Amino acid sequence: MSDLYCVMGNPVEHSKSPWIHARFAQLTGQDMHYDKRLIALDGFARGIAAFRAEGGKGCNITVPFKFEAAPIATRLTPRAELAGACNVLRFDGDEVFADNTDGVGLVNDITRNAGVRLAGRDVLLIGAGGAAAGVLGPLIEAGPRLIAVANRTQAKAQHLIDRHASLAQQHRVKLQAPELLQVTDDFDVVINATATSLSGEAVPVSPAVLRRGTLACDLMYGPAAQGFMDWAAAHGAAPRDGLGMLVEQAAEAFLVWRGVRPPSAQVLEELRAALG
Ligand code: ATR
Repeated sequence: MSDLYCVMGNPVEHSKSPWIHARFAQLTGQDMHYDKRLIALDGFARGIAAFRAEGGKGCNITVPFKFEAAPIATRLTPRAELAGACNVLRFDGDEVFADNTDGVGLVNDITRNAGVRLAGRDVLLIGAGGAAAGVLGPLIEAGPRLIAVANRTQAKAQHLIDRHASLAQQHRVKLQAPELLQVTDDFDVVINATATSLSGEAVPVSPAVLRRGTLACDLMYGPAAQGFMDWAAAHGAAPRDGLGMLVEQAAEAFLVWRGVRPPSAQVLEELRAALG
């Protein structure tokens, strides 16, 4: 029988993860089956127990369960601990190994797929919720000069940078938490980790943060990213959606489970083509 994996979430029906992992498995010759599981909002622990009883080897965790995954882990990577959230679990007998590959997925998409250097650059991260917390650690490890974390509720951004202060010091990265509406410097890379695109609201920051050629990434893809992408393009920036991050975080999860790195750039290209 093939090794069993899945993605657990609510909602989960539109997840691209089964397609991505099936393609990774095909291209690397791994014998595995990956499906999706809709989990009741109050049923995360039950869902995990049922999947393990079926013999599941590991799973991805998506909205809204990423924060519930950390407490069930017996071993947590430092990046998952810093994020306070997990998107990957691996079941090793009685042990539950947990990781967060969202941030490294974003960094790999920016540096490898988009070909934009982060080392020594100035980065603006908009938002300080779960999505922002998931990517800040790996962004710091990529060694930019500065990361400004700007959030509607400034205290949350301050709390997030305080939690990352020692990692930032270790990598000699300057962290700031400016007032969202007062950010008027321009940046090399701007990352939208707020939920504004999803609700169709305006981008909550001045276009002065963009200069010609700034890489402007949304962590979402599809219609949810369109508002931010249009805004970025209208102000001369290079827009990028979160599809590459999705494929790259999946590639890192695949590596955690199977010990093999799949050809993620090829699969990203195929997925873009399949989505039209
Ligand atoms: P996620 O897990 O997707 O990050 P979240 O933890 O609820 O979801 O965080 C949502 C983020 O979007 C927060 O940074 C939130 O700002 P607040 O911390 O001030 O709530 C941000 N956000 C949501 N709606 C927004 C809006 N209309 N303008 C600006 N920021 C907004």
